[in-house]
Amino acid sequence: MIKTRITEMFGVETPLVMGGMTGVGYAPLVAAVANAGALGFITAHHSTSAEELYAEINRCRDLTDKPFGVNLTLLPSLNPLPYDEYRHAIIESGIKIVETAGRAPVDHLPAFKEAGVKVIHKCTSVRHSVSAVKHGVDVISIDGFECAGHPGEDDVGLVVLLPATVDAVAPVPVIASGGMADGRSLAAALALGADGVNMGTRFMATKECAIHENVKKKIVENTERDTVLTNRTLRNTSRVARNAVSEEVVRIQQDPTKTIDDVRHLVAGVRGRTNVMGKGDTDDGIWTVGQAQGLIHDIPTVAEMVKNVMRQAEEVLEKSARRVSVAA
Ligand SMILES: Cc1cc2nc3c(=O)[nH]c(=O)nc-3n(C[C@H](O)[C@H](O)[C@H](O)COP(=O)(O)O)c2cc1C
Repeated sequence: MIKTRITEMFGVETPLVMGGMTGVGYAPLVAAVANAGALGFITAHHSTSAEELYAEINRCRDLTDKPFGVNLTLLPSLNPLPYDEYRHAIIESGIKIVETAGRAPVDHLPAFKEAGVKVIHKCTSVRHSVSAVKHGVDVISIDGFECAGHPGEDDVGLVVLLPATVDAVAPVPVIASGGMADGRSLAAALALGADGVNMGTRFMATKECAIHENVKKKIVENTERDTVLTNRTLRNTSRVARNAVSEEVVRIQQDPTKTIDDVRHLVAGVRGRTNVMGKGDTDDGIWTVGQAQGLIHDIPTVAEMVKNVMRQAEEVLEKSARRVSVAA
């Protein structure tokens, strides 16, 4: 059993977290994660109103009596999202854990604090971590350059970013995110000062994840080299799967004068969700995945995966203590 401040703070059996994921973080998967002893997050912006989010939270509660949370991704959007409604739904339904991302949740923190909701803020730099902690978040989840989705613009890998963040925000607990996929990742993250590990890509390749089987198989088949970075010139970098569409975006964006309008038809989230995640054509849309896919070789149930990660982490921690001798 590996106990950390994360397992104690959130009442979960393992220090494994599944962060919010667009097109992936729905109630059945989050409940499977909770039932496996890890901490999963429902992605709030799948819902268009407070009522829908209530319903999604209740759907999850019907499937588990273990703790789970809600992810609030605070990004500007063409169609503004009802964040205040989401916050009300979270508080009214008694959810006690929120993962925020995109920007520091300054405007939501007072209400969350008053309701006893703990906030894990996920960000991609030491300076943003320090600032979020000053605003009062309870935990930092630090996303290294390896991560799926938005790695920020600093290009710092987790092996440097994690301990730098741990030092900068101490004594606030830190979760290691980006590139984490197995028990070795967890053992290494603990050694670097983390109290937990956040995984996205690894949870996609599980039986309970409701994306098309072809996508899961593609994750297994892909290596760590099969991601690309889009939207670098727009300073809104995204790490996505390497395929015909993402390579076309990268090609267009080699010209720095190109704007979002030049690639909108290619990067549209709805195209990826419909054609790739829904229909299983992994070459007909943008889909989010991280370098961690190079470490993923199976499609287990969530419970098997969590068990394997925990068993391997314990073995690695024990073995490394025996393998290395420390001279006085
Ligand atoms: C398909 C997919 C969609 C994601 N969508 C979101 C999102 O909407 N909000 C968010 O905060 N993070 C999102 N993420 C990031 C994950 O929560 C997590 O931080 C990231 O996947 C960690 O990196 P890893 O994939 O290397 O484990 C997404 C990740 C994936 C794979």
